[in-house]
Amino acid sequence: MITKIFSTTEDDLREAGRILKNGGLVAFPTETVYGLGADALNPEAAKKVYLAKGRPSDNPMIVHIQERGEIYSLTDTVSDDVKVLMESFWPGPLTIIVKAKDIIPRVTTGGLSTVAVRMPSSEIARKVIRYSGCPIAAPSANLSGKPSPTKGSHCVDDMNGRIDGIILGPDCEVGIESTVIDMTGDSPEILRPGIITREEISLALNKEVKYDRALFEKPGEDFSPKAPGMKYKHYAPKAEMILFKGEKDKVRQAISLREKEETEKGKKVSVILFDDNRTAAHDLFMKLRQCDLDGTDLILCEALTEEGLGFSVMNRMLKSASYNVVEI
Ligand code: TXA
Ligand code: MG
Repeated sequence: MITKIFSTTEDDLREAGRILKNGGLVAFPTETVYGLGADALNPEAAKKVYLAKGRPSDNPMIVHIQERGEIYSLTDTVSDDVKVLMESFWPGPLTIIVKAKDIIPRVTTGGLSTVAVRMPSSEIARKVIRYSGCPIAAPSANLSGKPSPTKGSHCVDDMNGRIDGIILGPDCEVGIESTVIDMTGDSPEILRPGIITREEISLALNKEVKYDRALFEKPGEDFSPKAPGMKYKHYAPKAEMILFKGEKDKVRQAISLREKEETEKGKKVSVILFDDNRTAAHDLFMKLRQCDLDGTDLILCEALTEEGLGFSVMNRMLKSASYNVVEI
């Protein structure tokens, strides 16, 4: 398959929208990461997404809309709390799980009776959705298991020849995927942390917001994460990766020492350090992909303090490192 490369001109976005409407697949930028879009109501189109990504078919997709009101075409149950979330955080990086209407094919929801809905703040994303005239199912536009794409070139690396089009837009502002909140239970529960934090959501709803247990404990045989996608090996660079946790100065010393030792053994070592959480979110996936391109054997990465956005980025770092942590 020849993948058409689009710019962000109106004409190109219109054509990308047409491809989506006709059942094709197009990767497009959002404020979080690039998405791989398909008509969410067309089971044949949705099926192709799983094939292109090599994604397990029990992993549901987020349905993207371009206006708040479009949520009513996907669900009959929009509670007052869901309305508050839509008003407070949309358009933006919050994905809300609600009960699904029957018109949504099971292939889009991974066989679940619920659906994840998000209205992105990216103008380009919203225009493509508008031009397509349909809700757009879009997982991150990476091959399954690889770090999410935060640049157009990442989509080309993973998806060229596998999908109909790629829109080369700006680098993603946030750099990690949206916060996913389940609103179908007795109380709101975060299934995947993101840049919109539990504290902010709790403040908006004026009630306690839980975290899925899988965000604190390494899921084992006795329980699994409530978001099916959180159970897979994710964000994994080719290299072995070690996270160093502890007091900043000591961690940095330990990393330099280890870097020296391993380099002397002939390994190609990459060191990843971040000065603040915003930069960490923005750059993490890009750096992991760069390590793959550089042929890195070992990545030594400084852990973040697990608060606010630091908690969300650490969720990805821990998976990238397969929970390989050295406490200093
Ligand atoms: O920022 C984002 O959310 C990006 C951009 C493209 O919008 N999309 C994204 O999609 O990260 P994806 O498919 O890579 O991750 C969606 C996550 C998965 O962990 C999936 O299992 C979970 O959301 N999810 C989707 N629908 C769900 C549902 N009905 N119940 C529970 N988890 C759900
Ligand atoms: Mg993903």
